[in-house]
Amino acid sequence: EYIYPIPEDKYNDVIEHLRYNFFADEPLNKCVGLCEAGCGHSELELHSILTLQDNLSVMAVNGTGQVVGVALNGIQHEGDVDEAIKKLETLNDKKFKQIFSMLYDLNQSLNLFKRYDVTSVFECRILSVDNNYRGRGMANEMFKLSIDVAAKAGFKVFKVDATGVFSQKISEKLGLETLIELEYRKHLDSATGLPMFSPPSPHTSLKVMVKILQ
Ligand code: ACO
Repeated sequence: EYIYPIPEDKYNDVIEHLRYNFFADEPLNKCVGLCEAGCGHSELELHSILTLQDNLSVMAVNGTGQVVGVALNGIQHEGDVDEAIKKLETLNDKKFKQIFSMLYDLNQSLNLFKRYDVTSVFECRILSVDNNYRGRGMANEMFKLSIDVAAKAGFKVFKVDATGVFSQKISEKLGLETLIELEYRKHLDSATGLPMFSPPSPHTSLKVMVKILQ
């Protein structure tokens, strides 16, 4: 069963789901070893709670009411990325900074607000399905529902930073186009000259993808 919006009394269950299925498993988190399965991550949890509070997220629950998938969607306003970059400088977690500075820099360079003449963008920030429920089309369903939510809420731009091949496949299928593709093997760490991210196969690139809704 797919539920929108996610009620506040389910926020803890969503975070628990992410600790076991997303924080350690998303391709970039995994390759830098951001955290172990089951462990919390204060910055990622804050990021998730703030996103939930935008009230645009979708979840999947099984027959016993357990959260088995989420699409955490939030609003990006003009200037948010500049603020986030400043905040990132104050943090200590090197691995978290590595991932988010790349994402923020790419988003800043795209300047979606100017490009599409909007003041806010609907962003799918976290797409996650329980390990035991993958490969059954659940992420696809939650993503489709998220696009509906965005359209009904009047957003013009639906955006995702798709870090792996499965989210890219889903996005393409649902009509998103790629604005920019960053191949991980070409994104080098200036200190070592080596790729900054070497995610597990079959993930090879990050794609910032959008769908225009009006
Ligand atoms: N091997 C091969 N193909 C796969 C696999 C796999 N292990 N898993 C999914 N796919 C393919 C499917 O075949 C399908 O493609 P198709 O329509 O051509 O058949 C497509 O990917 C989507 O499949 P779904 O069943 O809808 O995806 P699922 O419910 O399994 O969830 C997800 C996919 C969310 C990426 C899941 O694997 C996951 O939680 N991974 C860890 C977190 C993550 O990486 N999230 C995405 C990062 S980007 C972001 O969060 C914004």
